[in-house]
Amino acid sequence: MQAKQVAAVRAVQSIQEGMVVGLGTGSTAYYAIQEIGRRTAEGLQIKAVATSVQSENLAKELGIPLIPFAEVEVIDVTIDGADEVDGSWNLIKGGGGALLREKIVAAASKQLIIIVDESKAVGQLGKFPLPVEIVTFASELTLRKLEALGCKPVIRLTASNEPFITDNGNYTVDCHFDRIEDADQLNLALHAIPGVVDHGLFLHMATQVIVGYADGSARELE
Ligand code: A5P
Repeated sequence: MQAKQVAAVRAVQSIQEGMVVGLGTGSTAYYAIQEIGRRTAEGLQIKAVATSVQSENLAKELGIPLIPFAEVEVIDVTIDGADEVDGSWNLIKGGGGALLREKIVAAASKQLIIIVDESKAVGQLGKFPLPVEIVTFASELTLRKLEALGCKPVIRLTASNEPFITDNGNYTVDCHFDRIEDADQLNLALHAIPGVVDHGLFLHMATQVIVGYADGSARELE
């Protein structure tokens, strides 16, 4: 098993009968959804909420019972990946373009289990460009306000050089900070920009981080 998969399989062990489960997005969450599909095929009874159209489609293919988010009061556990995780379990997410729904689902979850391979564990956040979801209206103005925070903001493009449009109809801006010295302060500054919908800093949200290693082992980040 590769590192991402071993972390994912370990995390799925936390899912119990009758739970409402949040399904993350990305190449690591993919393995978790596969494992959840395997367990539901064996008879595990759960209901799931997806954080993207991509994960919803995968869950449907695997026969995982989905419920609309509007019907959910509380999510018992969400399992999702991350682009970076620091020693305080603060995260950068959104490399896969699904940060807004991921954050809404994470905020409604009693447990947020983050699964990563060892390359994602960092001493300081910011080497990975911070994804920021913005509305398309007046995007040039929003980009200038992001730049004033000390980053190089780049609108994410698709392979065919068109702006990448999120599941919510917005742009994603990848903000190159290189180092994020004060993530809590940056969180407030980003939310103060009117065109910003949300951003990929997930602070004080993870309840467990599982790191998978190339030798096939998985360990909890302490
Ligand atoms: C999706 O928008 C992201 O938040 C992903 O969870 C993150 O980018 C990690 O993705 P991988 O597991 O593909 O590295």
